[in-house]
Amino acid sequence: MAQIRLDKYLADSGQGTRTEVKQKLKQGRVRVNDVVVKKPEMKIDPSEDSVSIDGRSLVLEEFQYYMLNKPAGVVSATKDDRDKTVIELIAGDKRRDLFPVGRLDKDTEGLLLITNDGVLSNNLLAPGKHVEKCYLAKVQGRVTETEVERFKEGLDIGDEKPTAPATLIIEESGDESWVRIIITEGRYHQIKRMFEAVDMKVLYLKRLSMGALELDESLELGEYRRLTDEELRSLKGE
Ligand code: URA
Repeated sequence: MAQIRLDKYLADSGQGTRTEVKQKLKQGRVRVNDVVVKKPEMKIDPSEDSVSIDGRSLVLEEFQYYMLNKPAGVVSATKDDRDKTVIELIAGDKRRDLFPVGRLDKDTEGLLLITNDGVLSNNLLAPGKHVEKCYLAKVQGRVTETEVERFKEGLDIGDEKPTAPATLIIEESGDESWVRIIITEGRYHQIKRMFEAVDMKVLYLKRLSMGALELDESLELGEYRRLTDEELRSLKGE
């Protein structure tokens, strides 16, 4: 493993922000190979050097994976001048390199994977992989078999190409309808635009799953948890 700065290593290991870990270094609480080190800029090799804080050895976790139940009103970005971001919901900003895998609109709720694993993210988002995403939607208007067929055929939503076949499952049909939609693409405002193409309006949207990963319904809006080993394995297709 390459050499990294001690303060970055400590922050990446979940020991606090850079400022907090600098404080801990100053207080003489950090040892590298059993010697107290106070310099944040010291370079260490995590595969060679042993680092401890308050006598506890640290192990660098290269990747972290969180499932967030995204609330409405929060943007799927790492930084934003105006709005709160999904990364700010991950308490204590555990790592500085976390990012959301794909985007949900500001008013969309539900499953969002937050990680620093770029390879997994690319695999889940690559158009060629056709990873299924399932959403629950409340729609203005009566959804019928006509819409089910049109979603299956693919819709012209104003892009170069029509959408790939999507599965629409009607749960309740009335003046307002509840449906589940399964899509394999991730175009901008895709589901809202698909309903617009059949002259309907999405009133509420929540993502329920992405590939093998399903939203843990015990998470309240805004809550998150780490993925279990099993969830991670199935998401990676192992
Ligand atoms: N489709 C949308 O229109 N919005 C989302 O947030 C996700 C899918």
